[in-house]
Formats: sequence, C-alpha cells, structure tokens
Amino acid sequence: MRPADLEAVLRVQAACYPESMQEPREVVLARMRAAPGSCAVAVDAEGVCGYLFAYPSRLGVVTPLDAPFEPALDADTLYLHDLAVAPRAHGRGLARRLVAHLLEHGRALGLAASSLVSVQDTAAFWSSLGFQETGIDCPRSRAALAGYPGTARYMRRALD
Ligand SMILES: CC(C)(COP(=O)(O)OP(=O)(O)OC[C@H]1O[C@@H](n2cnc3c(N)ncnc32)[C@H](O)[C@@H]1OP(=O)(O)O)[C@@H](O)C(=O)NCCC(=O)NCCS
Repeated sequence: MRPADLEAVLRVQAACYPESMQEPREVVLARMRAAPGSCAVAVDAEGVCGYLFAYPSRLGVVTPLDAPFEPALDADTLYLHDLAVAPRAHGRGLARRLVAHLLEHGRALGLAASSLVSVQDTAAFWSSLGFQETGIDCPRSRAALAGYPGTARYMRRALD
C-alpha cells in the first residue's frame, strides 16, 4: 500500500462499513505512513479492491476506532487493524490471501503472534484462519473494544 492508494482505499472502506465505522482520511493516511511495510492492497482490473492495515504491537492492546497506530518497539504481535474487500471482489479468496501475506510478514519480523478485533459478524471467518477469541486484562484496551459498534471480539493466534 502506498499513499497514492488513499482515495481507492477510502472507497473500499465506504463500501464495506457503516457510517459509524468510517475512519477519517487523515487517520488512514497517517496509518499508511506509520506502518508502510505492514499495510497491503489487493488489486483487480478496476484497481484497488481490498486492503489490510496492520502494525507491530503488544498482545492485549486494542487500537481504538479512529486512533493512530502506535507501533511498539518491543512488539510481540502483528495487530491486524482493518481488513476489507469491496463487494465486487468478494468470494475470490482475496481476504484470505491478504491475511496470509501479512502473517508471513509478521513471521519475518520475528513476531510470535497475530491479534485483531473481529467486527461485523466475522468471528467464523477469523476462526477459519486460526484465530481464537481471548480475554483482555488492560482496562484501556477493554474500553477501546467497547468503543466498536455491535459485537466486537478480541482474537489472537500463534504465528509459528
Ligand atoms: C470479511 C471479508 C474481508 C471477506 O472477504 P473475501 O475476500 O470475500 O473473503 P475470501 O474470499 O478470502 O473468503 C475466505 C473464506 O471466508 C468465508 N467468509 C467470508 N466472509 C465471511 C464471514 N463474514 N463470516 C464467515 N465466513 C466468511 C468465505 O466464504 C471463504 O470460505 P471458503 O474458503 O470456505 O470458501 C469481506 O466480506 C469484507 O470486506 N467484509 C466487510 C468488512 C469487514 O467486516 N471486515 C472484517 C473486519 S474484522
């Protein structure tokens, strides 16, 4: 993913999330810049049709909706913040491939785990990729999880 992908990424976001979950342009751009090596796009004949934003973080830490990424110097997990595929490209295995690509990146960074917040009834999708729901101790992260609309689940998996 490059800053030049911003408009296309925002279009995918608009097609995939309700108003309450649309994250502002400045925040999305700041994330591309904060973690350029761990954000990826999927491209079809019409251009960018999917994306995955991720960054090295700490297990148990949840990124609040709309908050900037704060990559951890002592990271132990690749945090997958936002995965979306435009409806026109659903069912082609692109989400699976984006996740596989970035999990490989996490392994290359030496990270032992990957973690995320599942929203919009996607827990079964994430379970099929090896993630399991797990509890959170940190009150700040619990509050961040509660800030997501609907049912949000913190999930993690090992990367070995
Ligand atoms: C979830 C999403 C990323 C899946 O994208 P996709 O490219 O269509 O997914 P894939 O084609 O890689 O599908 C992989 C598998 O997951 C399944 N799957 C897809 N969405 C699912 C869901 N919401 N729940 C359960 N399984 C799902 C597919 O049927 C497929 O199964 P199969 O391999 O047995 O055929 C896409 O529906 C999307 O962008 N949704 C809106 C944004 C969103 O909610 N993102 C997740 C936030 S945590």
